[in-house]
Amino acid sequence: MPLTAGPDDAVEEYLDGRLDQRLESYKTFLRIPSISTLPEHAGDCRQAAEFLVGELRAMGVEHVAAEETGGHPIVYGDWLHADGAPTVVVYGHYDVQPVDPLELWHSPPFEPVISNGRMLARGAADDKGQIHMHLRAIEALLATRGRLPVNLMLVFEGEEESSSEHLDPWLEANRDRLSADVAVISDTSFFEGNRPAITLGLRGLMYAQIDVTGSPVDLHSGSYGGSVENPANALCQIVAALKGPDGRVRIPGFYADVVPLSDSDRAAFAALPFDEDGYRTGIGVPELIGEVGYTTLERRGARPTLDVNGIWGGFEGEGSKTIIPAHAHAKVSCRLVTAQEPDRIFELFRDFVAEIAPPAVRTEVRLLGGGRPSLTPADHPATQAAARAIEHAFGQAPVYMREGGSIPVCASFERILGLPVVLAGFTNPDDNAHAPNESMVLDNYERGIRAIARLWDELAAADSGAR
Ligand code: BES
Ligand code: MN
Ligand code: MN
Repeated sequence: MPLTAGPDDAVEEYLDGRLDQRLESYKTFLRIPSISTLPEHAGDCRQAAEFLVGELRAMGVEHVAAEETGGHPIVYGDWLHADGAPTVVVYGHYDVQPVDPLELWHSPPFEPVISNGRMLARGAADDKGQIHMHLRAIEALLATRGRLPVNLMLVFEGEEESSSEHLDPWLEANRDRLSADVAVISDTSFFEGNRPAITLGLRGLMYAQIDVTGSPVDLHSGSYGGSVENPANALCQIVAALKGPDGRVRIPGFYADVVPLSDSDRAAFAALPFDEDGYRTGIGVPELIGEVGYTTLERRGARPTLDVNGIWGGFEGEGSKTIIPAHAHAKVSCRLVTAQEPDRIFELFRDFVAEIAPPAVRTEVRLLGGGRPSLTPADHPATQAAARAIEHAFGQAPVYMREGGSIPVCASFERILGLPVVLAGFTNPDDNAHAPNESMVLDNYERGIRAIARLWDELAAADSGAR
């Protein structure tokens, strides 16, 4: 067995001959509105799971089932006949984010269209597109060789966008069956400028809601204004106290478990080919901000932060209505790094809000979800195999980056299954994930399929070379 895999013309030829079919199937998957957080879409989530079951069975994957979890099903399937070769758990999520505000979409979110070399639809990138790339790579290998170079266990979840409530218990219950060497997750994107990248770090998340209540009903703001605490004002006061003008979170103890950046961490960030002004104008903001003493890439990838995701209360219609609202609310999230634990951060958050909340209103804080941060070493052999596969398919070696977003399942794979995680994601960074007009650049999709097929060859070759 050669140390590096050679070109595979048969796989290439197979893929070349099926472009139209492939895009049709991709569209079929995207037409299913599998929004996991909205109860009225539970049937659609199940249908997306059934779509995957059908695809996996048709290509010869075994033990395929939509497994019940108490929530949306987890699709499992495996192919375990590569005796002596490594075993890989592949994870993706078939659920998607809600689509509001609908009026900002140029075409309906669940009617996929191809335009300017991109597939446009909710889920085109996050993460149905990337699952679909895995399907097509497996299909091409099985169809042309009758076998795979490695053993694969596929785990496709339907609740990632709504906090993966049933995934950890499922992983615990299936710990023995999921005994493997490495996990590969394709749910990240390339670096700015669509530069091939491997993500090493992801931030964690603590997501909470603050509810402030005053009188049981709205009050006349003339009759009562000045004598009764206003819940909306009180909420603003609380929110304003959470972060300082230096960009630092003011919750006592918030930074206690943050491991400082090393000189080499900082050098790695500084070495990335980052066009800061292009990044800024791409987002469309007048200025970039953040924690004093850190660069933009450090702030985004390696420092914790706190943000209001939504805030509401009182009169929101047109014109004016003179009231003191009965209640006001905010959804607040913290992105976490290194050793910060979501549960601990929630306790600190809750206690601080209780301390600063004006006593003339009732203030409640509840945890809505969370996930731990994760960091994988660049020198892991599976990461290096992914780097070779990406370079082969994209003609450029990947950079190593840290991502500000969260994939809580990474920490679960490490903690519950003891598996190192390789984040091999292929979408363009301007994919508008979670936003209107989500899209996947089809060149990334096509090359990504080749990179995935190549990755399995590279992993098998690296493993046999190591023996
Ligand atoms: N695919 C994303 C994670 C991600 C975000 C990767 C940005 C690369 C860049 C994932 O589907 C996601 O959206 N995760 C959520 C966390 C979850 C607990 C709701 C997130 O980061 O907000
Ligand atoms: Mn995702
Ligand atoms: Mn997402």
